[in-house]
Amino acid sequence: MVKSNLPLIVSLASLSQSFADQGAPSLPPGFHNDLDDISVSAGHFHTCAIESRPGVEFGGGIKCWGENAHGQATAPSGIFVQVSAGYMHSCAVGIDEQVKCWGKDFGVVPEGLFSQVSAGEFHSCGVMKDGSVKCWGANHWGEGAPNGGDFVQVSCGNGSTCGLRGNGLVECWGRNDKGQLDAPEGKVFKQISSSLNFHACGLEYESGDVSCWGWNHREQSESRTGPFVQVSAGSTSTCAIKEDQTVECWGAHQPIPHESLLDDQDMIYDQISLGVDHACGVTADGELHCWKKGSDFGAHQVPLGFAVA
Ligand SMILES: *[C@@H]1O[C@H](CO)[C@@H](O)[C@H](O)[C@H]1NC(C)=O
Repeated sequence: MVKSNLPLIVSLASLSQSFADQGAPSLPPGFHNDLDDISVSAGHFHTCAIESRPGVEFGGGIKCWGENAHGQATAPSGIFVQVSAGYMHSCAVGIDEQVKCWGKDFGVVPEGLFSQVSAGEFHSCGVMKDGSVKCWGANHWGEGAPNGGDFVQVSCGNGSTCGLRGNGLVECWGRNDKGQLDAPEGKVFKQISSSLNFHACGLEYESGDVSCWGWNHREQSESRTGPFVQVSAGSTSTCAIKEDQTVECWGAHQPIPHESLLDDQDMIYDQISLGVDHACGVTADGELHCWKKGSDFGAHQVPLGFAVA
């Protein structure tokens, strides 16, 4: 069983509770304790986050900022429970469990009820309530052609997709020129994250170690000994939250949450998400912080007064 002192478990317990309160089914059974980027998602050069509603524990409107040349930062109105910012588009799961996407050429979102969604480069995939994965948008490399069966999380990259099955095994499909499909066989994970730049990482269930696969030219796909509680694969770097909720990053030193953190060692995080030149994290106090390196189109500029859900 998962350790009950993990902060993510606490937030998921309340998340399930909130789902129950809404009369909707709870999260999938099992030990998977983390939906991908529940309330903040750093996309290529934009960020989307769910805004908290006063007095309501769960779900909210979406605000996006940063690069918006394709409308990827123009979020629809409505109440959403999970958001994923991709390259030129973004997608989110509504409180009604329908998925909406916005931005450039994202394709046709399938009908049906979803529990999670991920926006990649030119494609998107979602886990349906029955555990199947459906994908839409580009399918040049087979990134939109998952196997059947029971999934609990999906994470879209650039021409590739990885899915986490109910038994904790990871399966990836699409292009494999950098080994981005070569998830370690037989390892049991509880959360995965694909970058838009040919690498992916998973948080191992028992050890809390992070294993990565795919492009490793900047050592972004090195494995790290945990225990960690969440991992996010960025463009050429990887960051993970340790059990003490501080953040550790490796690979090319961009963006720079770890550098910011050096100035403030006490900063502890519940959630982190990496883009290309920026990253965002939700602190244990519930504040949304973002950092940047280089010109990130304002993707790190959290709107004044924004309260993350
Ligand atoms: C995806 O990969 C292609 C190379 O196949 C590259 O040209 C493109 O910039 C990548 N997209 C992103 C968002 O990094």
